[in-house]
Amino acid sequence: MKDVAGFIDQSIAKLKQEIKGTAIIACSGGVDSTTAAVLVNKAIGEKLVTVFVDTGYLRKGEPEHVQELLKNMGLNLDFVDASVEFYKALRGVIEPERKRKIIGNMFIKVFEREAEKVHADTLIQGTIAPDWIESGGQLRDVIKSHHNVGGLPEDMKMKLVEPLRDLYKDEVRKVARHLNLDISEKQPFPGPGLAVRVLGEPTRERTEILREACSIVEEEIEAAADRGECEIPWQYFAVLLPVKSVGVRGDVRSYGETIVIRAVGSLDGMTASASPLPYQLLERISVRVTNTTPEVVRVVYDVTHKPPGTIEWE
Ligand code: XMP
Repeated sequence: MKDVAGFIDQSIAKLKQEIKGTAIIACSGGVDSTTAAVLVNKAIGEKLVTVFVDTGYLRKGEPEHVQELLKNMGLNLDFVDASVEFYKALRGVIEPERKRKIIGNMFIKVFEREAEKVHADTLIQGTIAPDWIESGGQLRDVIKSHHNVGGLPEDMKMKLVEPLRDLYKDEVRKVARHLNLDISEKQPFPGPGLAVRVLGEPTRERTEILREACSIVEEEIEAAADRGECEIPWQYFAVLLPVKSVGVRGDVRSYGETIVIRAVGSLDGMTASASPLPYQLLERISVRVTNTTPEVVRVVYDVTHKPPGTIEWE
């Protein structure tokens, strides 16, 4: 995108025309949805209600941190703790596409409920180009149904508006930088959250294990990058496998969980290369994860590029 300021001006003008009543936006605090929220807020101000849903699958400290961030941006915030509903809806679900469809539907259910409260007739989403490209349709194969594409019901009552639909991640970052948003360099986080990083059933207990591991991976990689030991990867996180293995603690046998470290370099998420993290950093993560979460007895490192792997495991 050559003319970022032009894109912003045109988008605001178009949004003013498109949105007549009250609009509601699903905002996760990530780059895409926050940029979309700020654009729409500039177009219609207080008539935009920004809904931030705690699905139970957010990262450690994220519900508190994002609420503060969105409030500080002057957005009209509606915080919903729907974690109990999400855990219940995903009970017994292990198939990745089913997880994604259920999560998409749950989001819509929560938004429709919140929209009714404020009489909103328009739903804004921060969908970007790779979301709908990977979600398939017409000539394209489904790689994975992104939560904001695959879950939309045909009889949805609200009008759907997606101001970033044609942009790629690096272009959205340019828009965010131009708008001076703190979140412009934030690493991507999938809408379905930790639910697609807990392989197998994403129960509350297994999610807690991953939440802790993910936080350690993020902290250690960021600290290492600050010390100049490595470059900060484009995206870096942990995955919990549905595979148990035998370990030993003291002289006692344990049969426990497996954590994967995933870190990739990318420009737009469409292709990616596994990041060559220094061995000592990997070792520090492994020791800290196994010391902090006794359920985990094994930590492994994913060295797969995209393609043929995808960045997330589900
Ligand atoms: P994959 O795993 O397809 O991911 O290589 C490419 C990028 O997209 C993110 N991702 C998502 N983002 N909703 C999102 O907003 C989703 O459902 C979703 N699934 C994957 C992923 O984290 C990576 O940055």
